[in-house]
Amino acid sequence: MECRQWGAHLPHVAGIPGQADYGAQSVALSGGYEDDEDHSEWFPYTGSPLSATRSHILLLQNLSLSLSLSTTRMASTATGPTPTTTLPENHPIGHPLFTRIRLATKSDIPHIHKLIHNLAAFERLGHHYSATESSPSSTLFPNNPNPSPPFHSFTVFLLELSPTSTPFLSPHPTSSLFPPISKSFNFDLPISDPESHLFKSSETDSIVAGFVLFFPNYSIFLAKPGFYIEDLFVRECYKSKGFGKMLVAAVAAQAAKMGYGRVEWVVLDWNVKAIKFYEEMGAQIMKDWKICRLCGHALQAYYANAA
Ligand SMILES: CC(C)(COP(=O)(O)OP(=O)(O)OC[C@H]1O[C@@H](n2cnc3c(N)ncnc32)[C@H](O)[C@@H]1OP(=O)(O)O)[C@@H](O)C(=O)NCCC(=O)NCCS
Repeated sequence: MECRQWGAHLPHVAGIPGQADYGAQSVALSGGYEDDEDHSEWFPYTGSPLSATRSHILLLQNLSLSLSLSTTRMASTATGPTPTTTLPENHPIGHPLFTRIRLATKSDIPHIHKLIHNLAAFERLGHHYSATESSPSSTLFPNNPNPSPPFHSFTVFLLELSPTSTPFLSPHPTSSLFPPISKSFNFDLPISDPESHLFKSSETDSIVAGFVLFFPNYSIFLAKPGFYIEDLFVRECYKSKGFGKMLVAAVAAQAAKMGYGRVEWVVLDWNVKAIKFYEEMGAQIMKDWKICRLCGHALQAYYANAA
């Protein structure tokens, strides 16, 4: 397949929507096609996918004509980037996104604090959220001369993202304790993150997009430890892209690696999207079990009465 034309145009060309300010960038390809359906300006591409995310209809061959017309028109009206008609070598198709799951450290606390706050708001439990930025710092990462190794106490995995692989090329200081999990994606559309300035990673030139906080528990029935997931959160603009699965899978893989018997957590009964997500991941929803919690005054009363 050969690239016939590449350029930017204002909306709307042959059904390719652009943006109000900068228009759209389109690539017209040509190559043999055997489909009978020819819609003049476009036809369905049924050959091998160009990438895992682009197996849908592509605008091909005949589009080059409408593109050349539209780019000429745009050049005379638009203030955006000057259209070009040749595809630069190695120009990526789509929008690459590099991700990394790594152990969080004390310096990530400001982000963890904001993420937990967002999670509490999502779960409509903001009024119960009493943690300050310093309290998770002292409890999740205590200044202990012999800190627990990860997975034997409270552990946080952080999900970082970057449009380039550069921030993840050098090993993270925690890499010897847990080799980070990296995965790259290629999306058709760019992800707009209105809060990227608030979530710049403290350690690398990347953006923090989510986290999972977990710690060990124990099952006497299995006679094995397990992990309990306390919190799981993916920021709104990054949802439904597979990142939540990556985070849960990272905890499950670690549990299996350590010979642990299970991973469990609780979910609010109205959070049907999360329930569906967990079921699709193979989790069983334990309908007969209820959470029992002793906290606040009821808990303190035991201490007062014991004194
Ligand atoms: C639940 C959550 C962690 C899933 O992460 P994710 O990155 O969106 O999930 P993935 O992309 O890996 O999987 C997508 C699936 O998650 C499900 N999902 C669960 N909650 C969702 C939400 N609030 N928005 C969109 N999808 C959601 C959808 O069924 C989706 O499937 P689909 O893409 O086929 O429609 C994330 O949506 C989230 O942070 N939600 C808010 C907080 C929350 O519910 N935490 C769990 C508390 S128990």
